[in-house]
Amino acid sequence: MDLKGLVRDVPDFPKEGIVFRDITTILQSPKGLKWAIETMEKSLKDIEFDYIIGPESRGFIFGVPLAYNLGKGFIPVRKEGKLPYKTKRKEYDLEYGTAVIEIHTDAFKPGQKVVIVDDLLATGGTSKATIDLVEEMGGEVVKLVYLIELDFLKGRDLLKGYNVTSLINYD
Ligand code: PRP
Ligand code: ADE
Repeated sequence: MDLKGLVRDVPDFPKEGIVFRDITTILQSPKGLKWAIETMEKSLKDIEFDYIIGPESRGFIFGVPLAYNLGKGFIPVRKEGKLPYKTKRKEYDLEYGTAVIEIHTDAFKPGQKVVIVDDLLATGGTSKATIDLVEEMGGEVVKLVYLIELDFLKGRDLLKGYNVTSLINYD
């Protein structure tokens, strides 16, 4: 399936010089959506884990169906000020700015294994901040799964030593 052909490129969004890889056109396609979820799911078939963690907001879109299909729980990592209970926070750099993410302090127990799922790996800032939150809470990140990877931003360099899979690559 030509999933890459379903990604819409939007130049100069959200800032001049950024080509935004828009996944809403994949979501719109019943076949594209099914293929994306099923292929991401296959990359987890030999992995033992307790939870899927998805960073807001596009990480929710792919993380929840994967957790549901695999019979696991889902943990949201959200932008600052959105989670209602006690949180742990982390500031990080994005391709187009900085942000703060938070996780509930009781989201999982020390020693539990988590998989991080997101739509896209760019600089790796979001994923590294999520890994840091998980590890500071005593959890173990056993895999990271993305639909899209922007290889030229070298996000993988921040994720050295981790098991990373992406389905669509931009060199
Ligand atoms: C995007 C994307 C990833 C992150 C990737 O989310 O969904 O989470 O950026 O970039 P990075 O590898 O450089 O961290 P964004 O923060 O734009 O939020 P959104 O999903 O709500 O649009
Ligand atoms: N998140 C970070 N960089 C992005 C890009 N170029 N397109 C879509 N989402 C992104």
